This record gives sequence, C-alpha cells and structure tokens, in this order.
Amino acid sequence: MDRFQIEGGLPLKGQVRISGAKNAALPILCAALLTDEPLVIHNVPPLRDVGTMRRLLAGMGLRIEVDAQASDGQDSLTLQANAVNKLEAPYELVKTMRASVLVLGPMLARFGQALVSLPGGCAIGQRPVDQHIRGLQAMGAQIEIDHGFIKAKASRLKGARITTDMVTVTGTENLMMAACLADGTTVIDNAACEPEVLDLANCLIAMGAKISGAGTDRITIEGVERLHGADYTVMPDRIEAGTFLCAVMASGGEIFAQGARPDQMGATLDKLRESGLQITEQADGIVARASGRPKSVNVRTAPYPGFATDMQAQIMAVNAIANGTGLVVETIFENRFMHVQEMRRLGAQIDIDGHTAVVKGVAQLTGARVMATDLRASAGLVIAGLVADGVTDIDRIYHLDRGYDRMEEKLRGLGARVTRVKDSP
Ligand code: EPU
Repeated sequence: MDRFQIEGGLPLKGQVRISGAKNAALPILCAALLTDEPLVIHNVPPLRDVGTMRRLLAGMGLRIEVDAQASDGQDSLTLQANAVNKLEAPYELVKTMRASVLVLGPMLARFGQALVSLPGGCAIGQRPVDQHIRGLQAMGAQIEIDHGFIKAKASRLKGARITTDMVTVTGTENLMMAACLADGTTVIDNAACEPEVLDLANCLIAMGAKISGAGTDRITIEGVERLHGADYTVMPDRIEAGTFLCAVMASGGEIFAQGARPDQMGATLDKLRESGLQITEQADGIVARASGRPKSVNVRTAPYPGFATDMQAQIMAVNAIANGTGLVVETIFENRFMHVQEMRRLGAQIDIDGHTAVVKGVAQLTGARVMATDLRASAGLVIAGLVADGVTDIDRIYHLDRGYDRMEEKLRGLGARVTRVKDSP
C-alpha cells in the first residue's frame, strides 16, 4: 500500500492544471449505456474510480477505446454500448465504488431490466439509495431487493412527477438518465443543482435528450425514443481546484489553478476570501495568493450552491492553523469527521459536538504518521501535512488516488516536498 511522505513548511508557487471532474465523468460514462452509437468523452481524468467504472461497463459488454492521452494528461474515451450482454453491476465493484449505482437508471431505461448490487455501508455515512429506487418506481419500474441486489424491471418507463425527499446528486442523475428514454415527460423536483448534474445534462442533450432546467431544482425531461452518439468534454474538477486553493491558503505562496471555473466555485471562493486568500478570477483559471496565517471561518456544508461537503476536510485543515476558532458543521453525511482524529495527531485542536467541529487554530502543526480514511479526508490531511513542521506520513493513500489525479506530481510542480513511498506488502 502506498503512502505519501510530506516534508512540510514550504510555500506553494507556480501553475497547476485542473483535471476533468471525477463526479461529472462517472455519470457521463454511464450515459453511454443509453445509446448503441459511440459516445466520445474528452477530459476524462485517469483516476482509480474512473478505472472501476470502466471495468464495470466493460463487464457489461461495452466496447471502450482509449485514445492516446492528450498533452494535458487526461484521457479521451470512446464507449459503445451496441453489444451489451450482461445487465448486472456485481457486488465486487459496487462495494468499492458507490457511484456504480449510476448504471441502474440507464440500464433499466434502455434494456428494461437491471440487477445492481445494493451498496453497503460507507466510511462517511449510511448513504442509502432509496430515492433512486422510489423515483424509478414512480416511473413504473418493478423493483425488489433480492439477495442483496436491486432487481429492476420495466417494459418501458413512463414519465412521472418526482419530488425527492432530500437533495441527492447521483439520485437526480440516475432519474434524469432514466427519464430520457421514458414515454412522456418527467419532472424532478428538489433536484440537485450541482454543476456535475448540469454537465451530465449537457452531455445527454448533445446525445439528443430533451432536458430543461438542469442546474436548478426542477428538471424537466421529455422522453424520446432513442438517443444517438455524441462528442463531449467533461467539466474541470471544482473540488480538485478548491483543494489546491486551500493548500495555498494554508501553506502561503501564489498559484494559478489553470482551467478552474470560478463561476462554479462561489461558496468555496467566498470562504477562502474570508480567510484571507487573495483571489483573482480569470477566464482561464484562478490566481490565488496567500501571505500570513489564515483567519478562521465558519462553514456549514449544504447542497450546491452551498459549501460542498467534499470541501469540508480541506477547509478544516485551513482552520486548524488559522487565527481564531472556526465552526465546521457537516449537514450532508453523518460520519464525515474521520479526519479529525488524524489531524489531532498533527497537533490540531478540534472538538466534535454532534455534527459540529469546533476548530481552535494553532500556530503550528507538527508532522506525524497518520491514516487516510476516505477521499476528501485524505486531501485534508495532505494540506495539514504541507503546513506541518517536519515529516508527515499519510498511510492508505489509495483513497486519494480514487479521486485526485497525480496529486503528488502536481504538488511537487508547485514546489512542495511530497513523495509516494511504496511499502512492500
Ligand atoms: N440519500 C438518501 N437516500 C438516497 C440518496 C441520498 O438518504 O437515495 C442521502 C445520503 O445518505 C446523504 C444525502 O442524501 O446524506 C446526499 O447524498 P447524495 O445522494 O447527494 O450523495 P451521492 O450522490 O451518493 C455525490 C458525490 C459525493 C458527494 C455527494 C454530496 C458522486 C459520484 N458522488 O454522492 O462525492 O459527497 O454527492 O455532494 O457524485 C466524493 O467525491 O468524495 C464524494 C463522496
């Protein structure tokens, strides 16, 4: 298992290119199931989760070709679902990546049946998929849970009015994909407004879908008989961009996050400005400059356009070395404070009271050996390690590899001392 070894204390300086967004690429890959024609997808980040999704889709019979990597290190993939022969998402893959459930809606809509392993528990919360199931049932699907699998059937899905009980990103995406091929019009109320949902909708529209309102909390989908192939470029990863901005806020220095889209990062940019980061929004990215200790900020996670739960651990690392005390309230997942114990090992002063972390900033963190517990927790620990005095070793860095594209190389490009250490098994 690989770990990161970070020698902290250096400011960051230079340019970092932001990769394609993981959470947009994953549903867009699944959209290939909705047509028998080729779907060409550019700017796909070479991540572990993308590899898992490719394996899942290939196992179902999709043809997947990888074009030579473009100069920016992102992949262009061509997927064609004209010989699907296995309508199943097996437990082995779903348990390693919950986003596998995104094949459910498209499979059911195009082929009239699907067998998808029910995701189990997860490090950050229970994360049930009841809203996905309820929405598909409203569209006429017959669904039962059988031996740990979601077993779904439908002759042809029918348009329906669906109001989800809570805002769910992949739930909205699953239902939107399913509705594209349904008979009649579907309206999803309380829909997720995340830019990744909009990116998926734009890809579906390029494939011939009739969708309006994506990016708002009411999405209307007029079903069509069939979709066709398309050529689509995945949006930049706003969470990766936000992570680098938090890193420079904590470490000091000046970076240019090339390709970052400030218009999709409002809440993160607001909080970082409040903590003292000087941000210049440009058409082709974001320039961020930090000097001196950050100021503590209060943060409450919320669905978009609120502060993203996927940025919570990273802003906590900034607060850990900030001037003052900051409150971090997690409202989306019930168990997303696993990084707190590890940050304490670096000297952070953090108390947890229910869903609130009270972070009392300290002048200096000190390097230690810590353990990554999930993807964004790992990113928070990397930021803490970059600013800590001495050496920080972060074990189980495979969590980070699920969703960050060659993070150590990018950080080294900014002058940080980060190495990947391969421990013998
Ligand atoms: N929920 C239910 N029932 C459902 C669906 C969701 O109770 O049927 C609850 C969840 O348990 C959670 C809340 O609703 O408490 C919101 O969950 P959501 O469904 O929005 O999360 P998700 O779609 O499973 C996506 C991202 C996550 C990100 C969340 C929230 C992808 C592939 N994943 O997950 O990304 O944290 O939205 O923004 O898009 C990450 O990248 O590290 C990551 C975890």
